[in-house]
Amino acid sequence: MQILFIGDIFGRPGRTIVREQLPALLRQHNVDLCIANGENAAGGFGLTPQIAEEFFDLGIDVITTGNHVWDKRELTDYFNSAIDEPYSPARRVLRPANYPAGTPGVGVHEGTTRSGTAYAVVNLQGRVFMPAIDCPFRTADKLLSQIAAKVIFVDMHAEATSEKIALGWYLDGRVTAVIGTHTHIPTADTRLLPGGTAYQTDVGMTGPYDSVIGVQKEQIMQRFLTGLPARFEAATNDVRFCAVLVDCDAQSGRARSVERIMIDGNGIGETAGCWQMRDAGLKK
Ligand SMILES: [Fe+2]
Repeated sequence: MQILFIGDIFGRPGRTIVREQLPALLRQHNVDLCIANGENAAGGFGLTPQIAEEFFDLGIDVITTGNHVWDKRELTDYFNSAIDEPYSPARRVLRPANYPAGTPGVGVHEGTTRSGTAYAVVNLQGRVFMPAIDCPFRTADKLLSQIAAKVIFVDMHAEATSEKIALGWYLDGRVTAVIGTHTHIPTADTRLLPGGTAYQTDVGMTGPYDSVIGVQKEQIMQRFLTGLPARFEAATNDVRFCAVLVDCDAQSGRARSVERIMIDGNGIGETAGCWQMRDAGLKK
């Protein structure tokens, strides 16, 4: 079973490259489940229901988010509209599961692929250098005790590399993949953990890299130089599509391989396989 996870789609440039590149990638890799982090898809800050549904039309099955989930008021209304509607598309847009009880929206989606494999997508958020919400580790324990599917994909939206890799080790052997988002910088630590969990600290941004994590670089430099509040706008140049492709056993949910993908608007770029765990003797 092939799972494609697209890193933080940033503003219009990110949406455009997804529209241009995703159909071919889905075909080329026979993708069974496509997930994307969309929390920065609306102008770099938040997500709207209209953009979410455009992503669904492109073949994205589930959208994860993070700390920017509340930036657009319409998304909260969208979550609330689906409270009694388990099959509403709004239920396929997640907010981090460890926001306090009573927060609008849900942090897990359980579905079935076209070929009949049950899966779950879990969205968690870190607490280091981020809002002090509930514990992502204990929230994961609670959710995993309730999920029947073997194929479980976790988006860990967090700032600190330590918190992300700790969660990867904590969930190793219990989920198919733990892949990080939020920093918008892809990391080169793509690997299979010994228990069969695919891991990468950050998948990277799908958006403009001639920028500071998606925003016009001059605006961010001024902010660092002066500390004054400033308007941030999405950058436009050097747009790249960042993703990971996880191959897993549909019966057990164990990952077999994980590959890092970065391509430009012409579909040209690089892929990198996972590193092998020497002690565990894993072979790709
Ligand atoms: Fe974020």
